[in-house]
Amino acid sequence: MMDRGWMRTSTRHFKPYYSPDAEGSLRLDTNTNVLGPNPAALDALLTSDGLEFNQYPSTYSLPLRQALAGFYGLGEENFVTGAGSDEILDVLFKTFTDKGDRTAMPYPSYSVYDYFCELNGGEPVLIDLDEDFQLDVDAFLDSDARMIMIPSPNNPTGNAFHRSDLIRIIEGTDAPVVIDEAYGEYHGDSFINLVKRYDNLIVTRTFSKAYAMAGLRIGYCACSPEAAEMMTCIRIPYSLNMVSERAAVAALGDQEFIKRSVEMVERNRPMLEEALQALGFVCYPSDTNFILARSPVDHRVLVEGLKDKGILIRDFGHRRLLENCVRFTVGTDEMNLSLIEACEEIIG
Ligand SMILES: Cc1ncc(COP(=O)(O)O)c(C=O)c1O
Repeated sequence: MMDRGWMRTSTRHFKPYYSPDAEGSLRLDTNTNVLGPNPAALDALLTSDGLEFNQYPSTYSLPLRQALAGFYGLGEENFVTGAGSDEILDVLFKTFTDKGDRTAMPYPSYSVYDYFCELNGGEPVLIDLDEDFQLDVDAFLDSDARMIMIPSPNNPTGNAFHRSDLIRIIEGTDAPVVIDEAYGEYHGDSFINLVKRYDNLIVTRTFSKAYAMAGLRIGYCACSPEAAEMMTCIRIPYSLNMVSERAAVAALGDQEFIKRSVEMVERNRPMLEEALQALGFVCYPSDTNFILARSPVDHRVLVEGLKDKGILIRDFGHRRLLENCVRFTVGTDEMNLSLIEACEEIIG
């Protein structure tokens, strides 16, 4: 039997990422857009005109970077694209950190940060959030980190961080500060226009959440042209494929769908919160399309019970500071009703 001796020593303890058997299930576990695939992207994918995939895509996604530049009022030199914002996060570690370098990140937060950090030989410095799940700004500034990585809104807690705290961190260090705005459309606030003011600010975004295109794997970051150029030397050429890029350009042009998606969440989130609270859940304030809640019954019983009824939610109940907590993606009226009915049956 082959053992892990073949693996790089520093990564032998790694486990595969969350990968449930989701066949036929209602997926309220990954915070994707529940309204279905992005319609403008779908239209773009249904025409093959000019889709010369016998050729490579644009090496560094020029058409998408031009579209993003127009959308945000920046230059194409301010953007780097990738196969999902996860690729961008990996490229950030590869570009800006050396073996043994410290990267400061909040805890609890998106687990992929410490994974990429360790994968790239770095040392994750996890800084606990306070009881309101807000940032300990001084701890970030005192962390002697080579890079700082913070998602806002945060996953899995759902809250956005105070803008003034994030500004203090950006202004208080020369290290690159990455603000991950994977859920930025739902929050409605962004740091992207500040990349013109702060050289050390890098903002990542994705087409996987509000844009309803997770399966196409498209992400990007906005930053200074200098930082973008450094990242471009490290990012794998052609990593964003031609089909996804075409769909992303089309999707940017249909802001009506994004507005509809965000409004649906704004309408349904308080209703879901209220229904969960009535069942005994403690819900944490959310600025995005999911809710973190402390379960009134054992988290494993709830998550497994829902799974048996064909509904997937995400279990965080075994993690420090998130004891017995689970995360629900906000669904449509119909989805939320099925979810609440199923919870009711399990909680009894
Ligand atoms: C905070 C955060 N950042 C980044 C990502 C990755 O998104 P993508 O699909 O663009 O790789 C996620 C996905 O869940 C996320 O929650």
